[in-house]
Amino acid sequence: MTKDNQADNKQMKPPVEVRYREELEALKDLDTGKKPLNWKLSPQAVRTFILGSKKPLQWKGKELFIKKKYLGNDALVERCIITLAGNRGLMLVGEPGTAKTMLSELLSAAISGVSTNTIQGTAGTTEDMIKYSWNYALLLAKGPSREALVPSPLYVGMERGILTRFEEITRTPAEIQDSLISVLSDKVLNVPELGEEGLLFAQTGFNVIGTANTRDKGVNEMSSALKRRFNFETVMPIRDVAMEKQIILNEVEELAKENQIEMKPDEDVAELLASTYHELREGVSSLGHRIDRPSAVMSTAEAVSVYYQTMMTAYYYGFSGKSVQKEADQSKEAGKGRKNTRKKEQEDSQETNQGEPGMDLGCLVQNLVGAVQKENKEDLEKLRSYFQTVIRVKGEKEGGLWSEYYAARKYLR
Ligand SMILES: Nc1ncnc2c1ncn2[C@@H]1O[C@H](COP(=O)(O)OP(=O)(O)O)[C@@H](O)[C@H]1O
Ligand SMILES: [Mg+2]
Repeated sequence: MTKDNQADNKQMKPPVEVRYREELEALKDLDTGKKPLNWKLSPQAVRTFILGSKKPLQWKGKELFIKKKYLGNDALVERCIITLAGNRGLMLVGEPGTAKTMLSELLSAAISGVSTNTIQGTAGTTEDMIKYSWNYALLLAKGPSREALVPSPLYVGMERGILTRFEEITRTPAEIQDSLISVLSDKVLNVPELGEEGLLFAQTGFNVIGTANTRDKGVNEMSSALKRRFNFETVMPIRDVAMEKQIILNEVEELAKENQIEMKPDEDVAELLASTYHELREGVSSLGHRIDRPSAVMSTAEAVSVYYQTMMTAYYYGFSGKSVQKEADQSKEAGKGRKNTRKKEQEDSQETNQGEPGMDLGCLVQNLVGAVQKENKEDLEKLRSYFQTVIRVKGEKEGGLWSEYYAARKYLR
């Protein structure tokens, strides 16, 4: 093994509280806000952690800027924090890829210091997984005792006074979901096997954050008794191209850093991808064309992954978009401005094999096909017609990157 790939053992995706340890420590040290019992940070500091600081914090002799992590609806974040200080749970519902999971992790890390106390809801989730189960060897040896009990994340949350996250709760059968009702209303969990000692009263600080995808089996199957124990917040997809572009750039930069990919994201390509996702999701282009919306989820999270995939290809294989570019050149005397300088630079850098690798739009389109075609073959046809109408016209009008993008339509097969 070479020294290069002998890197130390490194976690692939450290939890939020590890990734942002410094920010959380600084916020805690400087926190002057009122704090609910057992919270690590005040609601104000939690808000700053998620929505960012306007000015850098002065901490331990240095300046620390708190990055804005969730973009979009600030008021929603504020409501979520307040809900968690009360005695109802928080339920985040919405389309896949709208950052429900991300938000619930950020909230848990900031409020309780851990984001990993989590139940993952699936069709196979059982009541044991929600409440507690037993270590059978100990149970047989010693009989029922706290020692032999294997606590669930809900149990741990109650015992320690921290948040429990329940991911994709609606994928769990409704009658299993209902085992949460008594815990959420009485804040007590009964373990009959332990007799008198079997009553677990929740410590303050405990609460539940659920997430539910509207594309899954649906929130409407949740019992109304359980619904009443939660405040619901609907997380909407981003509706602003500039913001979506910013999310793509932020996330990809973070991913690249984590994986030691030394390449700066290309802003023009991020904008192009953000506008594609935006237009396909909304069903109308910035030029006013009506577009047939694909049935696949056109989420920001998908856009991030399409971008990152393309970036990795460029990083590991080098730029390979010459064929696409030639076609672009033929189809349109590649015009004006800075977007064409990019192309020239890429060609130069490939010939001399120096400089930064660049994003290949052919590769981007191939990854886009993968993402869109996942659910329904007919979606590809819709993507093709989007290129034929919208991208063609943009290519004719703006040239440069857009005609390069249009030329890459040959991958829409
Ligand atoms: N409004 C947003 N602000 C910041 N990042 C976002 C936003 N919407 C989507 N993302 C990106 O999408 C990713 C996926 O979100 P995730 O939390 O897994 O979605 P969900 O749980 O809603 O399916 C996030 O990690 C983030 O990169
Ligand atoms: Mg999720």
